[in-house]
Amino acid sequence: MTYILGIESSCDDTSASVIKNTRVLSNIIANQVVHSSYGGVIPELASRAHQQNIIPVVDFALKAANIQKNQLSAVAFTRGPGLLGSLLVGTSFTKSFAMALDIPIIEVNHLKAHILAHFLDDDEGIDSPGFPFLCLTVSGGHTQIVKVSSPSKMEIIGSTIDDAAGEAFDKSAKIMGLPYPGGPEIDKLAKIGNPLAFTFPKSRMPDLNYSFSGLKTSFLYFLRDRLKEDEGFIEKNKADLAASMQFTIIEILLEKLKKAAITTGIKEIAIAGGVSANSGLRAELKQMADREGWKVHIPGIKFTTDNAAMIAIAGYFKYLEKDFSTQDVTPYARSNSELSY
Ligand code: KG4
Ligand code: ZN
Repeated sequence: MTYILGIESSCDDTSASVIKNTRVLSNIIANQVVHSSYGGVIPELASRAHQQNIIPVVDFALKAANIQKNQLSAVAFTRGPGLLGSLLVGTSFTKSFAMALDIPIIEVNHLKAHILAHFLDDDEGIDSPGFPFLCLTVSGGHTQIVKVSSPSKMEIIGSTIDDAAGEAFDKSAKIMGLPYPGGPEIDKLAKIGNPLAFTFPKSRMPDLNYSFSGLKTSFLYFLRDRLKEDEGFIEKNKADLAASMQFTIIEILLEKLKKAAITTGIKEIAIAGGVSANSGLRAELKQMADREGWKVHIPGIKFTTDNAAMIAIAGYFKYLEKDFSTQDVTPYARSNSELSY
């Protein structure tokens, strides 16, 4: 039996998880409320909160998994990409914790981990895609279409040239005066709004690439003009604005995913990352899968946003290959190829 402790601290969630092979025994997440009043994550506050949270969160994860720390086979941690100060907390903790136990440490790429979350097994069962599959990774910092040939062999075949899909949600929400993070707020409002009430221009990008910054700007200008005529425009049209914006983002995302499936001939399709929690995206993807004859894999909501179970499973695959890191490893805020290491 292999027991992996996973540690995630790349942004504003401190998380620890214990898995037994692919089975999730615990997955504890401490969200940082400190950022909500600022309308975004403040890196310095995030790293301080990680410092406060990391030991209790790990302790809780071990207790919830009902295992002793000396049963652990290895510790997997997010090396990057993410906020450097936040990543440093998880990396430093991992090094000293593993050194004391004399067990290996395993560096994990956060984006690969989002994809590998599909291989986690819990009470709700497991629905792992077969290789090769395409994964639309949509998070707060990234939007990528990835061809996944094995747990270690992944190739980015499309990505955003500017904002990520999550930013498109968060920034539109901010323009509307909704709290951070805006994605879940837009999702909630969209359920009671008309997606066809307003239309926003979609950028035309070549190949399998995305661009979301133009959409955000046109939303800003559209609202600025309407507010001149009616100060209460946003308040009166909140749900329709959210539904129309969400509809446009989903159309952009799925149009390129469809193109990727046609280009590669791959019909095994997955989504991953925080935005894959979006109820509209999940529903539209299922419909597209029916029309296109795809086998679609949608992760359980708890494995979509940042969590340490996904870090643990990515670590598990590397553990099987004995692909360990050394004590001189340092975090990366970005890497040249976002799926390297
Ligand atoms: O993967 P994630 O937790 O963190 C990063 O690695 O970035 O993704 C966070 C992003 C945020 O932009 C958040 O607004 C978005 O995921 N998000 C959603 C929903 N839940 C989280 N966006 C749309 N609908 C949701 N239900
Ligand atoms: Zn993430």
